[in-house]
Amino acid sequence: MMKKQQLTIALSKGRILEETLPLLEAANIIPAENIFKSRKLIFDTNHDNIKFVVIRATDVPTYVEYGGADMGIAGKDVLMEHGGKGLYEPLDLEIAKCKLMVAGLTDALPVEGRMRIATKFVNIAKQYFAQQGCQVDIVKLYGAMELAPIMGLADRIVDIVDTGNTLRANGLEPMDFIANISSRLVVGQPALKMKHKQIQPIIEMMSEAVVNRREG
Ligand code: ATP
Ligand code: PRP
Repeated sequence: MMKKQQLTIALSKGRILEETLPLLEAANIIPAENIFKSRKLIFDTNHDNIKFVVIRATDVPTYVEYGGADMGIAGKDVLMEHGGKGLYEPLDLEIAKCKLMVAGLTDALPVEGRMRIATKFVNIAKQYFAQQGCQVDIVKLYGAMELAPIMGLADRIVDIVDTGNTLRANGLEPMDFIANISSRLVVGQPALKMKHKQIQPIIEMMSEAVVNRREG
């Protein structure tokens, strides 16, 4: 019998992880120890040929693109910002749902001339405003985007909005919708070619788990 190839799945740590693990469990892929209680980066699972690597959400597409991991789970925002090169996106996991929005101060006046946009989603913002035929300057931030308009650093922000509480708490409001976001399963081109037989059943099992979760 042919030996099974090793398969590595990159998981985004942070808020996605809690919703990811039940889906993987429903697909019968279970970490050998409690990921939340460990400082490890690589985890064995109940399959001796499947491992998890648990990394920053923004690094997942990079790992999968370069074959450092065969598959991964990441937010659509992160995938859009990465550009999706070398990634196949077979499944919407329907978790961590939110929206990408343009937002600004509640009493903000229309801006004359070039707007300054603060965001960590530089590529998404560039593309969105170009599509709108709107010339903007983009300021890259790594967090707390809501602060930028308050401090006069930017006219608008591009950020994730879910309940809208973070915007409201800081005197901001959503203005324009950019995209609906949820987490996706991604597979890298190398794995798609070389490990197709192993990957296909995982996609099918997870897809079933998504449907079961949706239907309660
Ligand atoms: P990194 O650690 O790489 O900087 P991050 O801190 O932005 O990433 P998280 O806050 O854990 O990562 O968010 C991970 C993903 O969860 C995001 O990419 C997005 O898809 C989704 N997400 C972020 N905020 C919300 C929210 N308020 N509600 C639902 N989903 C969200
Ligand atoms: C995310 C996002 C927004 C907030 C939106 O932040 O960056 O600030 O959630 O959610 P809301 O509309 O329900 O308030 P998160 O809580 O992940 O903090 P972080 O970006 O600092 O990691």
